[in-house]
Amino acid sequence: MTEKKSFIRQFWKEKKMIGAMAPSSRFLAAKMVKVIDFKTADVVIELGPGTGVFTKELLKNMRPDAKLFAFELNDAFYEVLKNSFDDERLFLIHDSAEKMQDYLNEQGIQHADVVVSALPLSVFSDSLRDAVLDASSSCLKENGQYVQFQYSLYSKKHIKKRFSKMSIDFTALNLPPAFIYSCKKVQ
Ligand SMILES: C[S@@+](CC[C@H](N)C(=O)[O-])C[C@H]1O[C@@H](n2cnc3c(N)ncnc32)[C@H](O)[C@@H]1O
Repeated sequence: MTEKKSFIRQFWKEKKMIGAMAPSSRFLAAKMVKVIDFKTADVVIELGPGTGVFTKELLKNMRPDAKLFAFELNDAFYEVLKNSFDDERLFLIHDSAEKMQDYLNEQGIQHADVVVSALPLSVFSDSLRDAVLDASSSCLKENGQYVQFQYSLYSKKHIKKRFSKMSIDFTALNLPPAFIYSCKKVQ
């Protein structure tokens, strides 16, 4: 099955989990990684990799000694990812994103340098949205980066509450067009 067909099928099955009818475009993927400082990133976390559009870009840009923890909850997408990537830097985790700190701890890691999120925050319950944003903020080191895309500005206030430095970019070259939040954890 093609990536696009797989997306549509999963979307109809679990709309609130998937939050999109198609994988993100390469233009959006390029904008998401453009803002990341890969030179200083030892530990990167990806939330909601789906079929791996951002995962591929992240691994392409990451240092050979860096680690990528990718959290995918959907069973079908997890299988796609498992079969698509063969890279020692990738820790693929079939669990919910808010548990990220537990998985870092298991590897003896305290903090991440970057969190890249494609989670559909605006359709999540308030409690799941808050749990994911709180976990992202607390697992990042000081000056760590949080990069998130959304199809609307609906979640802006919830993101801004956790990250004092924020800029927002936009791309029309995605279906639907998307906003890219680029944030820093500054005390
Ligand atoms: C909008 S899709 C983005 C997929 C991919 N990154 C892309 O841009 O094409 C959101 C993804 O988040 C995943 N997801 C939703 N809730 C999750 C959760 N609590 N923990 C981990 N992944 C989750 C979905 O299964 C889906 O793959």
